[in-house]
Amino acid sequence: VRHLIEPEDFTIEELNEVVELGKKMYEAPEKYAAVCKGKILATLFYEPSTRTRFSFETAMLRLGGNIIGFSDANTSSVSKGESIADTIRCMSAYADIAVMRHPKEGAPKLASLYASIPIINGGDGGHQHPTQTLTDLLTIKMYKRTIENHTVAFCGDLKFGRTVHSLIRTLARYNTKKFILISPEELTLPDSLKRTLTENFGIELQEVRYIEDVIGEIDILYMTRIQRERFFNEADYARLKDSYLLSQSKLQHAKKDMIVMHPLPRVNEIAYDVDDDPRAVYFKQAEFGVYVRMALITKLLGVDVTC
Ligand code: CP
Repeated sequence: VRHLIEPEDFTIEELNEVVELGKKMYEAPEKYAAVCKGKILATLFYEPSTRTRFSFETAMLRLGGNIIGFSDANTSSVSKGESIADTIRCMSAYADIAVMRHPKEGAPKLASLYASIPIINGGDGGHQHPTQTLTDLLTIKMYKRTIENHTVAFCGDLKFGRTVHSLIRTLARYNTKKFILISPEELTLPDSLKRTLTENFGIELQEVRYIEDVIGEIDILYMTRIQRERFFNEADYARLKDSYLLSQSKLQHAKKDMIVMHPLPRVNEIAYDVDDDPRAVYFKQAEFGVYVRMALITKLLGVDVTC
């Protein structure tokens, strides 16, 4: 049984295969409307979600399959103290594939050890979010034509941001030219990850405090939210929460073909006046999430997609 717990579980060829199939599914979804007929996806969400859960559910329904699951673990026997291991053993008999989001790092990995069905990590704590990475790769492919050789800037909470942790390691595998890291000192990318990028991949890292200092150099600007739920105290969150606001006036100094991405939800970090700028692609990014997850479900289930 194959699982997707972190992007490294897939080779570059497999990531490309899912992205390319996601693109085909976006262009002609009707061709795939019955390929998962009779299959069941379980969505096990121990932490809130809008895009990941609903896009997975939409993906399975668009493939002709069915869905079960919970979005509030308190409505399941988790509230009675049931372990992840026992939950997954039982869900393996009810569903053909499951996606799990959990506030604790490593919970989907633990689940995969007890599962007899494919387990997909839908985000675990501040650790990894591999299907957001697939969504991001498809978005980059659609807007920049290639995934390789861009100058990519990550802005916001680089310490706790699981979307950043998954994407930056993956883009390193795609020969990214340069990463620019924009964050407050308290929320910089973990040192271990920085070392991996520089020592294992030989990538140039530039760290700055302000978007304005680098905006003209960037090909892809990946904005992120300062994540209240990952802070230990409210005072630190209050001090850092408004660190960044991307506005139309700041965008005037950006390249004409730069794209602005954001995994969403946003709080204050992108002004609403940016939404109508053709460089703002974050809502299309959320839409692409459906199609790349359709592709992923079919790959992990091993269903025939030669339509
Ligand atoms: N991008 C993302 O993971 O969004 P949700 O938290 O709404 O699923």
